[in-house]
Amino acid sequence: MSDLPADLYTEPRDIDVNTLANLGPLAPMAGVWEGTRGLDVKPKAEGPKKQAYVERIELQPIDPQTNGPQLLYGLRYHVHVTKPDQVKTYHDQVGYWLWEPATGALIHTLTIPRGEIAMAGGTATPDATSFELVATQGLDTFGICSAPFLNEAFKTTSFRIQVTIHPDGRWGYEEDTVLQIRGQAEPFHHTDRNLLHKVGEPTPNPLWAAALAKA
Ligand code: HEM
Repeated sequence: MSDLPADLYTEPRDIDVNTLANLGPLAPMAGVWEGTRGLDVKPKAEGPKKQAYVERIELQPIDPQTNGPQLLYGLRYHVHVTKPDQVKTYHDQVGYWLWEPATGALIHTLTIPRGEIAMAGGTATPDATSFELVATQGLDTFGICSAPFLNEAFKTTSFRIQVTIHPDGRWGYEEDTVLQIRGQAEPFHHTDRNLLHKVGEPTPNPLWAAALAKA
């Protein structure tokens, strides 16, 4: 970053603590969602395999976060995916969606219980209805880090997610996780997509809930 401010410590004053009102393009994603039209393409020994899935995503506002002068608003999320009509977890993921109003920066962090984390970055306007974020293995920022087994057997070299907010309030994503699988010359595109409809409203973040209770 070449445009760092001289003062790295002073935090912004008079921060609006209503996170739901400051999420920019992420605002329509706050709440609890379900999707029944998921499609996964995953690596199997015999080659790519397609699998339908159902998903529940909870995205809840967190209190505003400051890194010195930097101010971020965000949602903490949990994704839970099963095969249709099954209880067994097919995919589980936690992390944050973050928005920096001053720069239009978007950050998506993800942790999956295979021993892997990633942080994807992008930019958007506050009213954007489509945005894309990318993570690339080996970079200092917006990278990917795996535990030893995955790093050697199924190294994730890049991750890309495109979100689309629909006029009817639903939203969807398409993501492409590129894997370098040991013994295979060509990269494998582990892809996922789904369309989500709202099943629950978001819970106000702690500071905003306290302000509402006092009012
Ligand atoms: C809705 C999203 C996703 C679903 C439903 C999903 C599902 C799966 C499943 C079922 C497998 C196991 C294949 C098998 O061995 O039978 C797999 C493998 C894998 N996934 Fe995902 N995945 C998703 C997203 C992601 C993301 C976002 C990443 C990383 C950025 C990721 C990284 C991997 C890796 C590295 C493997 C290889 C490990 C292995 O096959 O043992 N996945 N995924």
